[in-house]
Amino acid sequence: PTLTMDVRDGLLFEGVPLHVIAAAVGTPCWITGAKTLRRRARALKMAFEARDLPVSMHFAMKSQDHQATLTLLRQCGYGVDIVSGGEMQRALHAGISPSGIVFSGVGKSDAELRAAIEHDIAQINVESVEELYRLDEIARACGRVARAALRVNPDVDADTHDKISTGRAGDKFGIEYRRAVTLYGEAASLKNVRLVGLAVHLGSQMLTAEPFRKGYARLADMVREIRAAGHTVEAVDCGGGLGIRYRDEIAPSPDMLAGVIAETLGDLNVRLSIEPGRWLSAPTGILLSRVIETKAGSPESGPNFVVIDAAMNDLARPSLYESWHGILPVAPTALHAPTKLWDIVGPVCESSDIFARDRALPATIKRGDLTVLLDTGAYGSVMSSTYNSRPFAAQVLVDNGKWDIIRQRQSVAELIASETVPDWLTASRN
Ligand code: LLP
Repeated sequence: PTLTMDVRDGLLFEGVPLHVIAAAVGTPCWITGAKTLRRRARALKMAFEARDLPVSMHFAMKSQDHQATLTLLRQCGYGVDIVSGGEMQRALHAGISPSGIVFSGVGKSDAELRAAIEHDIAQINVESVEELYRLDEIARACGRVARAALRVNPDVDADTHDKISTGRAGDKFGIEYRRAVTLYGEAASLKNVRLVGLAVHLGSQMLTAEPFRKGYARLADMVREIRAAGHTVEAVDCGGGLGIRYRDEIAPSPDMLAGVIAETLGDLNVRLSIEPGRWLSAPTGILLSRVIETKAGSPESGPNFVVIDAAMNDLARPSLYESWHGILPVAPTALHAPTKLWDIVGPVCESSDIFARDRALPATIKRGDLTVLLDTGAYGSVMSSTYNSRPFAAQVLVDNGKWDIIRQRQSVAELIASETVPDWLTASRN
């Protein structure tokens, strides 16, 4: 993220002092940098344009689904990849054209498929034989022809965290690739589904070219095989997965991805698309929080704790995947302060509510100080829960010196508002 340090104001995000936002909005608070997001959106497109490779961009909105984010990416010429009817509504609400929407997901309900057909969204990525036939039936009932792609499981190891790997034979996603070729032919007889091509998504936070190359090469072979059998393949959807640097990873560049796609699929004369999520949104977001308490460990060996007011219910990634997020102090005095090793934890009553162990932060860090968790723009706010009756945190958008609240902090009253206690329960107590 675009963070700078000012000797008076401390840490600034896209030119806005973070202490100003904390004072006005409170903490914890998600902050998105519009300028950073725009810059990344352009850089990604440029990598493909530089190779004269037309590729449509479908932002994986599961990573960050705020209306402001979607609006901004629409302005940059992006469509979206959705995985639920809820995301479809959000995308349409943000003014994204149905022609720029692709629908992925392993369990789409009848109602979701019907809505997708009625809105005439560009492409439904079908994940099983069963879903293909169900889609045909639903489209028939609507009197329409649905455009679909077969999501293939290429059996490639994405070499990433087990919980975010999706393209291996044992993963729940996609149609086994050997079967997909036959199925593609069979689907030609369906009257209410028109197969436009193939789709794949190999995994997330992928850091090397090799799994992409293997997966896309397999896809290319399939396209040739299907065509040899006399069928039309117009489109190939390459999925997402491009990783970023959270700590010291050597992150792949968009140019690497563009190169691999050009090399493996560039000559096939198909419409190409990708579904990036994390690469676009992760570095554009930070989570601002305040230190509630510091807690000294035992003199012999015990860790020293910094308890901050953000928790696993806000940012779930560290507790779910043991993921690493950079943590910085906001105060200007932190710049040259001697450090010591701290465990940074949240207030939730779970041992896994830990953001980091043995992190060097100022030895003098104290109650009331501000900290930021970095690279939380993807799979951050969207994965929040209200566990421990902790309402959803506020969200702020900064853009080159200006800022605004884009989601009010939820109140506890709102949390309770949709709950009811049946009359008979209170009556039986009398
Ligand atoms: N397309 C499909 C079909 C997907 O399932 C995903 C992510 C993407 C695109 C976007 O992948 P990306 O470019 O963001 O890697 N919650 C986890 C990540 C789950 C990813 C699920 N699928 C995390 O916080 O690491």
